[in-house]
Amino acid sequence: MKGLILAGGLGTRLFPLTKITNKHLLPVYDRPMIFYPLQTLINAGIKDIMVVTGGNNAGDFLRLLGNGKEFGLKHLNYTYQEREGGIAEALGLAEHFAEGERVVVILGDNIIEWNIVEAVKEFKRQRSGAKIMIKTVKNPKDYGVAELKGNKIVKIVEKPQKPKSNYAVLGIYMYDNQVFDIIKTLKPSKRGELEITDVNNAYIKRGDLTYSVLKGYWADAGASIDALLEANKFVARHGANKKI
Ligand code: G1P
Repeated sequence: MKGLILAGGLGTRLFPLTKITNKHLLPVYDRPMIFYPLQTLINAGIKDIMVVTGGNNAGDFLRLLGNGKEFGLKHLNYTYQEREGGIAEALGLAEHFAEGERVVVILGDNIIEWNIVEAVKEFKRQRSGAKIMIKTVKNPKDYGVAELKGNKIVKIVEKPQKPKSNYAVLGIYMYDNQVFDIIKTLKPSKRGELEITDVNNAYIKRGDLTYSVLKGYWADAGASIDALLEANKFVARHGANKKI
């Protein structure tokens, strides 16, 4: 199982904090934002990790993380996304790195209080397909929203005007190697990006998507200035990436 951290994008929602740096390098309490998703993967037992980034500050990730020694890693891999093509496009860049294996993908601004150990174990037992993580939120309109029938997700809608549930789809996704073929069939959305929600809906159509409900706090810290502030306050008070 390989790990991918997606840390590209322009971070326009955090402007002007992101005028001269990448949002995933901004501080969340006492460390740069990207430290948290990296720790999430490592705590789930994933050691072979690639960071996908882009823009003018890509070199800063290398200076910050190096080969991941501080995190107990022997090596870290990097690749560069040349344009703002969306989360699914960024994921597609990792095909050669995945080498036929499964991947656990985390967005570089997703911070969790606990861990994803159980979900990753469940995914290892799954014969094929994908697994996503969901959680009830107060403002589902801001996220991909999962529509459930019984205990199955039947559809995911990206930032819906009228959400059919309060379940947000988190930026933590697990895929088999089919994901790279699915990405090649995608068409850009209205905002000109290849959407991760379209990837997940393709797995739903195949009847091969499972989910897990995340326990504890979750932050999409890069979603807005307020989300960033809230994540800072939460992590300062309660910590993040706890193991038990
Ligand atoms: C992305 C996804 C969205 C998901 C969110 C979680 O949105 O498109 O489905 O709910 O991440 O962090 P973004 O925050 O990039 O707009």
